[in-house]
Amino acid sequence: MDKQTDYGTPASRNTEQQVTLDIDGHSITVAKGTSIMHAAMQAGISIPKLCATDSLEPFGSCRLCLVEIDGRRGYPASCTTPVDEGLKVHTQTPKLADIRRGVMELYISDHPLDCLTCSANGDCELQDMAGAVGLREVRYGYEGSNHLSAEKDNSNPYFQFDASKCIVCSRCVRACEETQGTFALTIQGRGFDSKVAAGNFDNFLDSECVSCGACVAACPTATLMEKTVIESGQPEHSVITTCAYCGVGCSFRAEMKGEQVVRMVPDKNGGANHGHSCVKGRFAWGYATHRDRITKPMIRKSIHDAWQEVSWEEAISYAASELQRIQSKHGRNAIGAITSSRCTNEETYLVQKLVRAAFGNNNVDTCARVCHSPTGYGLKQTLGESAGTQTFDSVMQSDVIMVIGANPTDGHPVFGSQMKRRLRQGAKLIIADPRAIDLVSGPHVQADYHLKLKPGTNVALITAMAHVVVTEGLVDEAFVKARCEWDSFQYWSEFVAQPENSPEAMEAAIGVPASDLRAAARLFATGGNAAIYYGLGVTEHSQGSTMVMGIANLAMATGNIGREGVGVNPLRGQNNVQGSCDMGSFPHEFPGYRHVSDNATRALLENAWGRPLDNEPGLRIPNMLDFAIDGSFKALYCEGEDIAQSDPNTQHVTHALASMECVIVQDLFLNETAMYAHVFLPGCSFLEKSGTFTNAERRISPVRRVMTPKNGYEDWQITAMLSEALGYPMPYQHASEIMDEIARLTPTFHGVSYQKLEELGSIQWPCNEAHPEGTPIMHIDEFVRGKGRFMITEYVPTSEKVNAKYPLILTTGRILSQYNVGAQTRRTDNVAWHPEDKVEIHPQDAEDRGIKDGDWVGITSRAGNTVLRANITERVQPGVIYTTFHHPESGANVITTDNSDWATNCPEFKVTAVEVSRVSQLSEWQRQYQEFSQDQIALAQQQDESHIE
Ligand code: SF4
Ligand code: SF4
Ligand code: SF4
Ligand code: FES
Repeated sequence: MDKQTDYGTPASRNTEQQVTLDIDGHSITVAKGTSIMHAAMQAGISIPKLCATDSLEPFGSCRLCLVEIDGRRGYPASCTTPVDEGLKVHTQTPKLADIRRGVMELYISDHPLDCLTCSANGDCELQDMAGAVGLREVRYGYEGSNHLSAEKDNSNPYFQFDASKCIVCSRCVRACEETQGTFALTIQGRGFDSKVAAGNFDNFLDSECVSCGACVAACPTATLMEKTVIESGQPEHSVITTCAYCGVGCSFRAEMKGEQVVRMVPDKNGGANHGHSCVKGRFAWGYATHRDRITKPMIRKSIHDAWQEVSWEEAISYAASELQRIQSKHGRNAIGAITSSRCTNEETYLVQKLVRAAFGNNNVDTCARVCHSPTGYGLKQTLGESAGTQTFDSVMQSDVIMVIGANPTDGHPVFGSQMKRRLRQGAKLIIADPRAIDLVSGPHVQADYHLKLKPGTNVALITAMAHVVVTEGLVDEAFVKARCEWDSFQYWSEFVAQPENSPEAMEAAIGVPASDLRAAARLFATGGNAAIYYGLGVTEHSQGSTMVMGIANLAMATGNIGREGVGVNPLRGQNNVQGSCDMGSFPHEFPGYRHVSDNATRALLENAWGRPLDNEPGLRIPNMLDFAIDGSFKALYCEGEDIAQSDPNTQHVTHALASMECVIVQDLFLNETAMYAHVFLPGCSFLEKSGTFTNAERRISPVRRVMTPKNGYEDWQITAMLSEALGYPMPYQHASEIMDEIARLTPTFHGVSYQKLEELGSIQWPCNEAHPEGTPIMHIDEFVRGKGRFMITEYVPTSEKVNAKYPLILTTGRILSQYNVGAQTRRTDNVAWHPEDKVEIHPQDAEDRGIKDGDWVGITSRAGNTVLRANITERVQPGVIYTTFHHPESGANVITTDNSDWATNCPEFKVTAVEVSRVSQLSEWQRQYQEFSQDQIALAQQQDESHIE
């Protein structure tokens, strides 16, 4: 299997100055600041090494990489010695060979000699180095003191720590610090007694370790080793693909044995992750072969019937005939579809095409409705394009980082690590969040301002900050005059300058001292390159779209847009939120954000698709659900999305689903929505299909099939079969042909093709004639809409108010180890870190109600009630409680209301007025849920053979 080249030390950041030197008689020209080791590797000369690896800064501890340099005394370490003009370096001399053999002898005398049975056999740098230095004997013998009987730590579900094999090179410790930024590991003791330890904890699982795997990747021996490699042996080939979890879009080498994944190793060339990963992408892929997976199609007449396993032909023909029956009886608009941001671009494109061309309506929506639809609206209005403006790497040029309503270390962990790296270099940090997320205070990271605002007051906060910028003369007038609509700026600046928008007037509503708001605004406007990163804490509000516009206003007013280090950056939750929006999965927009009423686009697509297209926007998810209850919406095709768990007001959603005549679910598992389905079309995992995902920085990355689909078909093929059965053939042979069509019909994708993805690795759109290799930073010379437009952002408090009956605000979020509704991560060993959702309550609120840590707590809102275990913590402020929503039985969405963003209907997940009290049993909803889901599982289990053996 090909291994990625390890240059030993990172590449020099100096792109301007070059240095020429001689290494072993070869003249080599490299960037100034390059290490001799790296320069030698560039020339194909490999210098023995153990403590160095190119993902980490050089350390210089093992003394194996020594070289001789003409005119210099001694034997400098090539990993820590930079190149210099005219140097003459010798990497192989009799003296060096002698020293290296001596070093290796010492290592080997304290190392088990079980190479043949070691899990790293064939992939061990110690073994390689013993060979490279020509080690033939160990003079010191093996009888002296050694570490050969050190105990193994198997506490982490995914990797083992076998201390007997440790050479104390510190690569793991440094990886945890430099790459991950968690600082979980230390070297304890000195000299012979020195050993790697998980801080002051007994084992890895109990420690601060977040199981990112950076230490495992960095370890040159079998000391830190994936358990899958220990069980299955070394992989024999690898395929580069893209993580299917979050919007960071990490690139991985799926290392395989035949059709079996042995491990996922983050790809050093990955544009979004540069060789790093988190616990989900690195380790939590076992769900793909979990026994719960359903691989045979099933149908049933009623949701109270047993499922009947049928052939693909029968399932597709039944689904199509039901859709046709319903349309002929209830009208063209009685059916629709929902796509998921977990699907590939190609799959999403096909679903919206199916709806528009074969269903003959625009009733297609996506789960981005419930997360980032306000981003689409807000950024389009102000900047002209519904996408983040930067690359992730841009953060390394930021001087001030403002994080609003996002929790990067949990939600976007690899980017969170990169951000922490920049903060350790000295960038300033402003956090606007009701809760003390990890970034507020962590190892070597401390927020300069934590604006602990009350949930629901984002718009008041951003407008108050804008007030400071405008009234204190901090506007970048040159930028605004050159780049923005001056009239809109004047109108906006007069608005924000009004006394009622001042921090002093707003502080009571926001709950943040005016002095902090002023100081944070000054820092943002004057601290150099200032970048804003935001998440669902911005969008999932009744004023989500207003807040997105407020963010764009602030960035434009301070000139922080259109170059490295600045910008407006939505952190997309799921892997393909950006892509699913790009692909036209909203009811009002065709691919490329072109409105359905746009005659030219409609004509283009009608011509290409051969069907007339509706010029009226179709139904959004909430409309579909309301109309289902009213009786006019009767059938839904739902691919990869679990609305019964992920959408607000669960009882409303399940009532709507139960009211439909035909619910078709395409998924890996019998999810919560499938329990209300009549047709189940088994989907396939990202490991079994070809396609592309587009991450939060608009980066289109390839998803490559590494194993045969267990259900027989890739998901796009299933949509195509359904379309054909509806009389609208989609004769694609491969996902690449779908991308070719997307590129042909979508101006921002004109230059995208699988061939180009093969050549470049990934592409950030727009990619077209003007930008043939993509566009890392947007809006450089002008905004996509021409001039940037300031929008008025009047603060309108949410109608979801606290009162005597519901005195607390519930807000929701995610945790690192779990992913959204948990359908995938709950079926992996990640449950070790988060086996249940808990409710965080401030000690004061808990004491007032007699609630102790670990008690069962009933949470009641205007929409419903549920019961969770209490976690008493000062992470939340008094008056605010917080929970995650990864386990369906938690019923977090039973209590969220169906309030939503005024512009996009994105639910107001982040603000629900509630009361909590100590209880001793589950809620009524939870009891009913348990009963219903047990019945549904029983109805499915009558099809035993449908499970993977
Ligand atoms: S565990 Fe591996 S990386 Fe860490 S010090 Fe030991 S050998 Fe080096
Ligand atoms: S897995 Fe990650 S967090 Fe845990 S010790 Fe290793 S580098 Fe640190
Ligand atoms: S979940 Fe996100 S951060 Fe983690 S490996 Fe996957 S893409 Fe990367
Ligand atoms: S590789 Fe240079 S000192 Fe270890």
